[in-house]
Amino acid sequence: MPKRSKKVVKEIPPEDEYEEMFEQLEEKTEETVEYELEDISGVGRITAEKLRNAGYYSIKDIAYASAHELAAIIGSEDRARNIVMEAQKLLGRGRYFITAKEYYEERKNISYISTGVRALDELLEGGIETKAITEFIGEFGAGKTQLAHQLSVMVQLPREKGGLNAKALYLDTEGTFRPERIVQIAKYRGLDPDTVLENIIYARVYNSDHQMLLVDKAKKIVEKENIRLVVVDSLVTHFRAEYPGRENLAMRQQKLNKHLSQLMRLASLYDVAVVVTNHVLASPDVFFGNPLRPVGGHVVAHGCTYRIWIKKSREGKRIARIIDSPKHAEKETVFMISEEGVIDI
Ligand SMILES: Nc1ncnc2c1ncn2[C@@H]1O[C@H](COP(=O)(O)OP(=O)(O)O)[C@@H](O)[C@H]1O
Ligand SMILES: [Mg+2]
Repeated sequence: MPKRSKKVVKEIPPEDEYEEMFEQLEEKTEETVEYELEDISGVGRITAEKLRNAGYYSIKDIAYASAHELAAIIGSEDRARNIVMEAQKLLGRGRYFITAKEYYEERKNISYISTGVRALDELLEGGIETKAITEFIGEFGAGKTQLAHQLSVMVQLPREKGGLNAKALYLDTEGTFRPERIVQIAKYRGLDPDTVLENIIYARVYNSDHQMLLVDKAKKIVEKENIRLVVVDSLVTHFRAEYPGRENLAMRQQKLNKHLSQLMRLASLYDVAVVVTNHVLASPDVFFGNPLRPVGGHVVAHGCTYRIWIKKSREGKRIARIIDSPKHAEKETVFMISEEGVIDI
């Protein structure tokens, strides 16, 4: 059975306007209903169990799933399509469209995590967004991992200091996470290092299947643990290593695509910021301009919301450039990496 909690706006209506007020009151009754999977019409206990085992825990997970992927779990694509539609009905009270104004109001609820670098925050117009995937691209030593460390600390700060008073989940595919570095950054930001370490939930990722499994599992702890930042450092390493060469390219990209939509869903459904890092490779067929390309091809290019390229510059400086964004102009800024973390110059 659904658990219901009603927020009723209490007003005592004058008698003659009773009818009208009653109607308005009904409209103002904001009903938040927490449904279980079993509340979806067509989903019994056994199907619900199968779905949960496959990592679909909530109505939202089902409503935003594709019928095709659910069919792999419950057998029939027709049935899967029905279940998805029923879940969408429960979620959106039967509405398929919203106005741009409603979407605009909705986007005002997006939260930002400060990078701790004023210049970078300005470049990003507020910091790292929730409900989006932000990608840091760069060569070895560019500072991608440093930024990932810093954000895992920054998210814990109170809102007035640029954080979200929340925890971070850190998926480390290359074994480059360093708690010692977190301690340094935390101290500089005036935070208790032990508390900060407790608030970073860490997993070493061993292969691409493990990486995808962990993101599935993440859904379960994100709400419970108040996680607002999910880091994947780095996104493509395992996929590239396990699916080398032209002959595996299609398979690799397909899997990577699935992983990215998994991350995007996590970001938008659970209102978290997803930050991924990515390497660059020299492409042999470029004669003019920049021969370096972020790995992962179109799948990663389209799968990430904001792409920021970091380049090493003179005297330890770093240049960050927004190369792809639905809302930012292509511009750049300079920052530094120091003992204290990532800082303004
Ligand atoms: N404690 C520190 N003090 C100053 N600079 C540091 C410190 N730790 C790392 N760095 C800088 O960060 C760079 C590595 O950045 P990193 O984020 O690991 O690169 P990548 O982009 O490969 O992930 C090093 O080259 C060094 O310049
Ligand atoms: Mg790194």
